[in-house]
Amino acid sequence: MYILGIESTCDETAAAVVQDGEHILSSVIASQADLHEEFGGVVPELACRRHIDAMLPAIEKALERASVTMNDIDLIAVSYAPGLIGAILIGLSAGKALSLATGIPFIGIHHVEAHLYAALMGNQVEFPCIGVVLSGGHTAILHMEGVGSYRMIGETQDDAIGEAFDKVAKMMGLPYPGGPIIEELAIKGDPLAYPFKSGQIKGKPYDFSFSGVKTSVLYTLKGQNRSGLIEQLTKTEKENAAASFQRVVFEDVYAKIERAAAEYGAKTIIFGGGVTNNMTLRDFMNAKLTRSRLVFPKRELTLDNAAMIAGLAFHKWQQRKEGDPYSLEARSRLPFTV
Ligand code: KG4
Ligand code: ZN
Repeated sequence: MYILGIESTCDETAAAVVQDGEHILSSVIASQADLHEEFGGVVPELACRRHIDAMLPAIEKALERASVTMNDIDLIAVSYAPGLIGAILIGLSAGKALSLATGIPFIGIHHVEAHLYAALMGNQVEFPCIGVVLSGGHTAILHMEGVGSYRMIGETQDDAIGEAFDKVAKMMGLPYPGGPIIEELAIKGDPLAYPFKSGQIKGKPYDFSFSGVKTSVLYTLKGQNRSGLIEQLTKTEKENAAASFQRVVFEDVYAKIERAAAEYGAKTIIFGGGVTNNMTLRDFMNAKLTRSRLVFPKRELTLDNAAMIAGLAFHKWQQRKEGDPYSLEARSRLPFTV
């Protein structure tokens, strides 16, 4: 079964062709990072305009690179939630229009669920397991009984983990996306230089809070009265702040996963989302969570992409054997757990 995947929930315009939920024949990702770099975050209006220009070329390229035409496609899969509503609408409208014109069924896919599914592409996993989403928009620990069957264990109460990386980078005057830059700086820094603390939520041991540590970084960088000049920070100070921030965040995520794995008796932990691109995170989790089997997505499947959308759609089709109606609406927020 050949599935055309389409993704436009945030700042990547992506299209891919995936066979039988696993074999990636093509995966085209048109990143908009250059557009948003100077603003320290994604500017929705700019993102939408770029999606309009980039969507059809991305789809054409995905078909061409997979050496197929629309005649070979069995299903069109589009991420329809959650994300920037205007951005989603562009991919969703493109998918519906293609479906209407060709008669090929279309199916809406939950973007965050697809991030988790990415770890299953090319990896055999036994259920039940623990799923961990670490992305720019989401931070969550879930109990997974199979593809499509999830129970939320813990999620963030404020910023998502990737968002915290981006905001800390912005405080240091560094461009968007901040995650990879913080990782790079942290490699040279001292992770124990600053005693930042992770946020804990009373009565909710699995929930996250990253806004406190973000503020501690700000106070450390600018001083208690926040009057210090970022331009005067030395390279070493930035490296130490990045390393200390990253350490406390990873330790927090690790401790919550460890506790969840013990409580739910899970032997396997699967990871998904852009922050799992971070090699320090992978090494840290592999060194700490030694009693579990850890499954990370291939690195090309960690950031936003359409291959994970087409991949998950294969399973949805197997379960339902039918597509979605054209009345399916884009949603900026949507839970995917029971
Ligand atoms: O999953 P993703 O592509 O988009 C969402 O669905 O949110 O994640 C993007 C996020 C951004 O916040 C980016 O800074 C972060 O992933 N990220 C990283 C790294 N690469 C990307 N964070 C930490 N270390 C990295 N190497
Ligand atoms: Zn994403």
